Amino acid sequence: MRTKCDTNAFIGLSGPHPTFLVTVNDPRNNNKAAIAVAWATPLSVKPPLFGIVISPNKATNDMIKEAGVFTVNVLPLDSIDEVWWAGTHTGRQYENKIAAAGLTEVPGRSDKNATSVQEAIASFECKLMNVIPIGNHTLFIGRVVSVDADEEYFDIKKGAWNPETARLIYHLASGAFLTNC
Ligand SMILES: Cc1cc2nc3c(=O)[nH]c(=O)nc-3n(C[C@H](O)[C@H](O)[C@H](O)COP(=O)(O)O)c2cc1C
Repeated sequence: MRTKCDTNAFIGLSGPHPTFLVTVNDPRNNNKAAIAVAWATPLSVKPPLFGIVISPNKATNDMIKEAGVFTVNVLPLDSIDEVWWAGTHTGRQYENKIAAAGLTEVPGRSDKNATSVQEAIASFECKLMNVIPIGNHTLFIGRVVSVDADEEYFDIKKGAWNPETARLIYHLASGAFLTNC
């Protein structure tokens, strides 16, 4: 039987959401940010734009504004514990949240403040184009400037994940996740 829900139920109902690890180097002190992000979406093909939605009270919010760049890392299901950790601990207590999460930092390609993680099976770097306050969150719009993916998991010719090899992370609710099969 369908029952009337609180309006906030739309958040759970619109999932599961593919979940990414967004990383950045803070130019003020070289601290490394890593935040789990499930509210994220492509916005345009030409130009290539991607949007992530972050609460203003997250440490990463200010760090992206300072850096002017962010990297969207796709981590496989094998790294679910690290993504969960990054999504449940604030970077305010860590100079290097990437390392604290148990991940290996690697330098980005497009900018000195772009940083990534070795465990990612793909990542794309975005140059920050627009910061839009939306309700109680902030929409960061980035222009995708550099993309790389592991051919074992991503068919570069098709531009699509290989469903035989890639096991991706989708957030369902609280600590519950799904993957593809
Ligand atoms: C699966 C998952 C998805 C999340 N998605 C988002 C999101 O899209 N936007 C957001 O602001 N916080 C999101 N969070 C919460 C942040 O990742 C979390 O508060 C994190 O500790 C913030 O770290 P920071 O303070 O170092 O930026 C998510 C958490 C989890 C576990």
